Amino acid sequence: MKPRIIVTRRWPAVVERILAERFDTTLNAGDIPLTPTQLKAAFLNFDAILPTVSDKLPASVFPDGDVRTKLIANFGVGFSHIDLGASRQRGIAVTNTPGVLTDCTADIAMSLLLAVARRTGEGERQLRAGEWAGWCPTHMIGTKLSGKTLGIIGMGRIGKAVAKRAHFGFDMKIVFFNRSWVEDDQICAMAANQVPTIEDVLAQSDFVSLHCPGGAENRHLIDAPRIAAMKHAGFLINTARGDVVDQDALIDALENRVIAGAGLDVFAEEPLVPERLMQLENVVLLPHLGSATEETRVAMGMKAVENLTAFFDGRPMPDKVA
Ligand code: DGY
Repeated sequence: MKPRIIVTRRWPAVVERILAERFDTTLNAGDIPLTPTQLKAAFLNFDAILPTVSDKLPASVFPDGDVRTKLIANFGVGFSHIDLGASRQRGIAVTNTPGVLTDCTADIAMSLLLAVARRTGEGERQLRAGEWAGWCPTHMIGTKLSGKTLGIIGMGRIGKAVAKRAHFGFDMKIVFFNRSWVEDDQICAMAANQVPTIEDVLAQSDFVSLHCPGGAENRHLIDAPRIAAMKHAGFLINTARGDVVDQDALIDALENRVIAGAGLDVFAEEPLVPERLMQLENVVLLPHLGSATEETRVAMGMKAVENLTAFFDGRPMPDKVA
């Protein structure tokens, strides 16, 4: 008998077809998010659950007692939405989809950086509103990237990909904070400077880009004092997770021009975006588009397929996180 699996949202069609061939697959044709009650029931009825980063799996959705589920094969690299204590307690393995979304997430970080520095969102809004009065030397003046310093917090795969783009593409200097020491050919080629504290990054950088995981350990890593420690003309870019930044403190800082601006692809309570943030011109807002390309979403789905197939064949899973 084929293992019974449930996919919580629509996945790329090509991946859904492969899943349906290999497994007894329940798809979500309507793409309506499952409720906590439906998620809880899934643990009793399916051998594997295939959630994504917008499905919340706190301890309360894991049923007490015996469950049928043996694997949570997450569609996404971030897994802070899954209570790993609760899964471990029930002997459920968890996998993610690392590596395949590095370039596209780095591209979105760079587009936010460019958009907020060069005010392209504001410019387009002005033009579409029919409010552009024509070229003049003082119109919508932004900030030049070349020669500026980019600070990276979290120099993993995505942090490095952003640094590479900024350094080689835009001639930016790179400083970074990472918990462990990072030394490899890429870091040397960029002459990227690892500094001992986050505060060092904030003080030295014209742009700060966040690339650390979400969840309890990094919750509000960037809080009001740290935002205030940035350069007054500095910009904050977040493509990591909304909870890494104290969102209210950031809004206060943007309203009061404590920093120059921000580019955000992630938010504290997605899909809610506070009205105060929407009102600000010095912030560029995207609806969590980091990995949203055809190539990357298919590759993410195929990673989940590989993890599932390995699990049910009794082989080691390539991307086991717990
Ligand atoms: C992830 O995979 O964690 C991303 O945030 C999705 O784009």
